[in-house]
Amino acid sequence: MITRRECVAPGFWCVGFRAPRIAGAVRAAQYVAIDQPGRFAVRLPLGIWTAEGDEITVLFREWGERTAQLAHSDIGTAVDLIGPLGNDFTIPARGARATIVAGGLGVVPFWLLGKRLLAADVQTRVVLGARTAALLVGAAELRALGLNVELCTDDGTAGTRGSVLDALDSEPPADIVYGCGPPNMLRALSKRCVAANMPCEISMEETFGCSMGTCWGCVVPVRRGAKQGSGYPKAHAESRDFDYSRVCFDGTVYAAADLVWSA
Ligand SMILES: Cc1cc2nc3c(=O)[nH]c(=O)nc-3n(C[C@H](O)[C@H](O)[C@H](O)COP(=O)(O)OP(=O)(O)OC[C@H]3O[C@@H](n4cnc5c(N)ncnc54)[C@H](O)[C@@H]3O)c2cc1C
Ligand code: FES
Repeated sequence: MITRRECVAPGFWCVGFRAPRIAGAVRAAQYVAIDQPGRFAVRLPLGIWTAEGDEITVLFREWGERTAQLAHSDIGTAVDLIGPLGNDFTIPARGARATIVAGGLGVVPFWLLGKRLLAADVQTRVVLGARTAALLVGAAELRALGLNVELCTDDGTAGTRGSVLDALDSEPPADIVYGCGPPNMLRALSKRCVAANMPCEISMEETFGCSMGTCWGCVVPVRRGAKQGSGYPKAHAESRDFDYSRVCFDGTVYAAADLVWSA
């Protein structure tokens, strides 16, 4: 059931659900597959933003039909949630230094991760970027947890002018980097961390169909032999040098070193 609904910036919504079982079990980077019976043809996958008490929230942009429907549903509307789905991030040892790199709505997995890193005494730096100030959401909630959040925008309308990757250059390397955001940013972040031999975990987003691991509509290529790869579809060893992995079921979190980018 929808418990709250707030427009946090033009076109961006935070919607809460009463979901005690999911709220009690969720880990960072997990998501829910949402149905409004009779309204959605395919479940809508959304990352879980916050979880407190019996309630979880999702933070999303009004992209198309399903997100518009959810954004404009009344409090009290019944929704059907499957979750929490997906794997989560690795937590380093106490005293380690972690950098979170988020692009736009890529901030979503990091409220839960930030909370967990703070509880584990990991020194955490958050770099949150977007093309322009109007697309930056979530910073206040991360700061309210006690996280140090640096902002950057491509056009300089908030924080430092430049990309999240530029901001990485201003501090010594971390023991682990976590990333979520648009594909171009993730590709650049992955490549940079792999080249620098810096452990990096990426939460991937693809277009989902079933969200259950059965339709194979959400695959990404991973290094042959990576633990999240599958042998399906079978191919002659020489016909490709990577495996497919289902983001909905095997991910959404991957070691950057396991991901294969097309360019
Ligand atoms: C695991 C997972 C977690 C996700 N978490 C979030 C989240 O926390 N917040 C959030 O806002 N979205 C999130 N998404 C993306 C969201 O599920 C999609 O945007 C979904 O397609 C929206 O459904 P819709 O019916 O509203 O729009 P659709 O009809 O599917 O799309 C409408 C139009 O918007 C375009 N579009 C859709 N999504 C994107 C996108 N991400 N970037 C650019 N263009 C797009 C489509 O190409 C289409 O033209 C997540 C997706 C996955 C797989
Ligand atoms: S969305 Fe169907 S297998 Fe991933």
